[in-house]
Amino acid sequence: MISLAGKVAVVTGAASGIGLALAEMLSAEGMKVVLADVDDLRLDDVTQRFAASGADVATMVCDTSSESAVAALAAFTLDRYGAAHVLCNNAGVTGDGDAWTCPMDEWSRTVAINLFGVVHGIRSFLPIMEAQGEGHIVNTASMAGLLPMPGFAPYNATKHAVVALSEGLYLELKVTGSPVEVSVLCPGWVKTRIMEHEQTVGTSPMSQLMFDIARTSIEHDAMSTAEVAQLVLDAIHRDQFWILTHADFRRLPVERMQRAANEENPTILRELA
Ligand SMILES: NC(=O)c1ccc[n+]([C@@H]2O[C@H](COP(=O)([O-])OP(=O)(O)OC[C@H]3O[C@@H](n4cnc5c(N)ncnc54)[C@H](O)[C@@H]3O)[C@@H](O)[C@H]2O)c1
Repeated sequence: MISLAGKVAVVTGAASGIGLALAEMLSAEGMKVVLADVDDLRLDDVTQRFAASGADVATMVCDTSSESAVAALAAFTLDRYGAAHVLCNNAGVTGDGDAWTCPMDEWSRTVAINLFGVVHGIRSFLPIMEAQGEGHIVNTASMAGLLPMPGFAPYNATKHAVVALSEGLYLELKVTGSPVEVSVLCPGWVKTRIMEHEQTVGTSPMSQLMFDIARTSIEHDAMSTAEVAQLVLDAIHRDQFWILTHADFRRLPVERMQRAANEENPTILRELA
């Protein structure tokens, strides 16, 4: 288990939502925090708030879909703080649309941010953590990484990929005796701006319906970002791989896998039946 006070954390997608709450939580633990986000205006706002509270933070505008931008984030972190102990690969977008009508540029954008953004983070920061003899990488996936939702094909595909990537990485690091830990965060609905940031592609009635369900659930029936951040902090303290935020969703992937093992066909969500 890694001790956090005085150490260095890097959070992507830190200007809003879950990323901002993670940055606040890790800063409250006494960590120096590098906040990275593609939204320069919101990042400025957030930086001023952290500075006013006396927190030790540095910020960098960074588009995680760019390999060179994430490599530059790692160089910036080393230059500023000399180490990187916790990395939260958190930046993500909704990626709505169905598999066959979603425009290819939306597919590419979602894969570039939700999947390659995480790959870039691992490639740039894992060598630093291995060299310094400790580190913890937290990848933000989703419940959609354990259970596909109709109408969100790029999101499902990329979040399933993040779960598989994270679990594979965990196993690789254990086999090689690495000092670096990995966690995967699979939240249900969390109260953030994610649906405001995205315009529905609206390529099909199904994606529009699911977009509306997601937006309503996030507005009215969602967990707070502070609760999610606390669960992540607990998981870092416990070297815990799986972070599932919503107790009432846990049975759904189990039922899915039971159906798969029984070779039974997938069932349709209650809301859509
Ligand atoms: N809100 C939910 O219900 C929910 C549920 C499951 C998973 N998630 C995941 O949580 C993560 C955070 O989302 P959120 O809900 O806090 O949303 P949010 O929109 O409030 O915050 C996401 C942040 O990521 C930033 N971002 C987007 N693309 C980026 C890029 N290419 N490079 C750097 N930063 C970028 C945005 O500017 C924004 O500040 C995402 O990966 C999302 O898929 C959210």
